Amino acid sequence: MTQFAQVKGPIPGPRSRALVEREALLAPGIQSISSLAGIAVDHGKGAVLVDVDGNQFIDFVAGICVSSIGHGHPALRDALAAQAGKLSAGSFATEARAQLLERIAGLTSKIGTGSLRRTQFYSGGAEAVESALRLARAHTKKYEVIAFYGGFHGKTGGVLGLMGSTFKQGLGPTAQMAGQYLAPFPDSYKLGKDPAVAGAEAIESLRRLIELQTTGSLAAILVEPIQGTNGNVIPPAGFLKAVKEVAREHGALLILDEMITGWGRTGKMFGQEHEGVEADIMTFGKGVGNGFPVTGLVTTDAIVNSADPWSRPSFSSSSYGGSPLAMAAANAVTRTILDEKMADNAARVGEVMLGALQKLKTKYSFIGDVRGKGLLLALELVADRQTRTPLDKKSCETIFRGCLERGLLTMAYAPRVRINPPLCITQEQALEGIQILDEAFAEFSRKNDRSQA
Ligand SMILES: Cc1ncc(COP(=O)(O)O)c(C=O)c1O
Repeated sequence: MTQFAQVKGPIPGPRSRALVEREALLAPGIQSISSLAGIAVDHGKGAVLVDVDGNQFIDFVAGICVSSIGHGHPALRDALAAQAGKLSAGSFATEARAQLLERIAGLTSKIGTGSLRRTQFYSGGAEAVESALRLARAHTKKYEVIAFYGGFHGKTGGVLGLMGSTFKQGLGPTAQMAGQYLAPFPDSYKLGKDPAVAGAEAIESLRRLIELQTTGSLAAILVEPIQGTNGNVIPPAGFLKAVKEVAREHGALLILDEMITGWGRTGKMFGQEHEGVEADIMTFGKGVGNGFPVTGLVTTDAIVNSADPWSRPSFSSSSYGGSPLAMAAANAVTRTILDEKMADNAARVGEVMLGALQKLKTKYSFIGDVRGKGLLLALELVADRQTRTPLDKKSCETIFRGCLERGLLTMAYAPRVRINPPLCITQEQALEGIQILDEAFAEFSRKNDRSQA
């Protein structure tokens, strides 16, 4: 008997079907999970989503790390309502922006030397990363950038070529700007290598790439502290520090894209804190606004003070960056994460989830790997543990449906199952979700004659 997940009938239910049909005019290309689930969502509370038929789902997705303080949090509702009634546009100084800037500087100045304290705001993740690249180029007066295989930094023109994935296929040369390069990432599970070896080899490849492919004009190296979209892939200890050293050897900046790892997701406020490394520029987004589009970057006095033209009036601003509504939302969310100690909750519940998922690995031979930091967790579903061949798409989708029909929303439709619930999820909700995952795995095992581990 489940307490939080409550499914009353077939999924999708009749009201969901009707709403999805009305959305037939929506252009294709939206997130896989939404088209695969076929449900229409009415509201949510904390880590539970309720569809228009009244079915309740435990949310292991959080809008892909966007919902941090959870669904329907009154702090966000009240802050947005109050601000919307007062002022919603313009770039003049506001109490909300001043407060948020102070709050962010208070948090980022705890990293490393304490130099990260100058913030600029945007409304999209890709927009923030593009600005970080412009800033790095303006500061270093150089233009080349290196990112990593498997990395994800947004789908707009300035960053598309830095995505280590297939998103640029079919778009021709416009998708790959001159001066953009990709280096291998130490994805040790996929490579079947010891993490330390994978890390050392990746640094060696990075050095070779710089030597043989770049033109001696490296402005920045761009990397996620943990690769989110690629499957919550954690690089080996010391890797980020080594990347920074390489950047320094070439007079380049380290840009850490904390869009997913920031604001408490990994059990610390920022992913880089686990590794004792300090970005020159850090980008953030997603969980900062809990659904309200707020993103930005944080950097140092030294960098902004010598970043012409980025620092000229209007050269790094945007229509919605730092808008009063965005600031009210991000302020409320950040304050709630701190007041309700959600990063600590992420660390604690994440640890419990990791343990429970590791138990599932001892039960099912098609689980090849379990990993995670805080509430950024992942399972590798494999056809064969020895070869680490990913489980086929159809089997994954069967497991996804098995979870959905039992009241769990999870990204099991792909073999690298990313698990990232809202930071407020309780231990009871988390364990109930894993129990549902267990049931869906057991059913899949039975029907497909998969041996138990
Ligand atoms: C690490 C990272 N950077 C940048 C982006 C792009 O953000 P947006 O979709 O808001 O443009 C994403 C989106 O998933 C991301 O995960």
